[in-house]
Amino acid sequence: AHQWRGIIAEYADRLPAHVQERVVTLGEGGTPLVAAPALSERTGAEVFVKVEGMNPTGSFKDRGMTTAMSSAAGRGAKAVVCASTGNTSASAAAYATAAGMLCVVLVPDGKIAMGKLSQAIAHGAKLLQVDGNFDDCLVAARKLAEVYSVELVNSVNPDRIEGQKTGAFEIVDALGDAPDIHALPVGNAGNITAYWKGFREYAGLDAGSDLPAVATRTPAMWGFQAAGSAPIVAGHPITHPETIATAIRIGNPASWQQAEQARDQSGGVIEAVTDEQILAAHRILSSEVGVFVEPASAAGVAGILMRAERGQVPAGARIVVTVTGHGLKDPQWALRNADGSDVTPQRVTADVVAIADALELG
Ligand code: F0G
Repeated sequence: AHQWRGIIAEYADRLPAHVQERVVTLGEGGTPLVAAPALSERTGAEVFVKVEGMNPTGSFKDRGMTTAMSSAAGRGAKAVVCASTGNTSASAAAYATAAGMLCVVLVPDGKIAMGKLSQAIAHGAKLLQVDGNFDDCLVAARKLAEVYSVELVNSVNPDRIEGQKTGAFEIVDALGDAPDIHALPVGNAGNITAYWKGFREYAGLDAGSDLPAVATRTPAMWGFQAAGSAPIVAGHPITHPETIATAIRIGNPASWQQAEQARDQSGGVIEAVTDEQILAAHRILSSEVGVFVEPASAAGVAGILMRAERGQVPAGARIVVTVTGHGLKDPQWALRNADGSDVTPQRVTADVVAIADALELG
């Protein structure tokens, strides 16, 4: 029987040789592309979700971490560092463990979800809660990597982008061609950069490659930021970014220009969605599609619903929304009603009649 071998082995011919000398993998990639009839109905399009929460540490970061960590291991590195809103730290910590390396993590104090903090600590990272936001953490991580012998594994590291582009490959492999539209959340803007690179390479638009084209076209890239943290939409950095979607609480994305390039070259958009829209999309994904995501991951769905309401989704268009991280990382949002009140499950005695009564089966 065939077992998925991780993205480096599966896409060896499309990844640089230097990540293949000493492969560090936890079996990432090969995630499901799930048809979402509830979203198709609401948008008049044909919608699929690419469920990146199914990666080993529960987010898309693992695709980039296998390549970044393999590259570092190939060079004999002993330690890595990252700034993170949570998922990068969880992924870096796990892959550093697999590589036998030390992992240093800088996170914004009190602003990362408990599941992610738990992962980084469980995997033995040296985690520091920084008095500042993600952007401050990234500045510090970059300086640390310049001065000390630790490798930076944030998405400004090109090896990260190489790994994450395989998400686009898998979408095309599953559908037989690129979709019309690819929607995703935007934070530090590494992932939109990576997906655009992947779609271009698969369409034979990579000047440096003589591999055959797999797709006949590229999708329009639709990126969505959280309204309180939407620097690309605003056109300037946001000094105090805010949003309940802590994963994308970022005011000065490192790959800002690449994100604008992806938007403009693809004929796409980068727009903002409010926390209310994000939580509404989160609820729809949970209760109508059957996919549990963390709030940031619902931003792409919120975006296509917003554009559908405005009449900006072409009828019958094939849309893939990448949902980036697992709901179990930040589960508290499921326990809130639409009006903001707490969900309190009903209590019953351990008696079948009481249970039937509570269920109104009579
Ligand atoms: N979705 C989730 C669940 C994320 O964790 C992130 C980024 C994004 C979307 C945005 O991706 O930054 O490539 O535009 N999380 C980073 C982290 C910043 O530290 O875990 P991006």
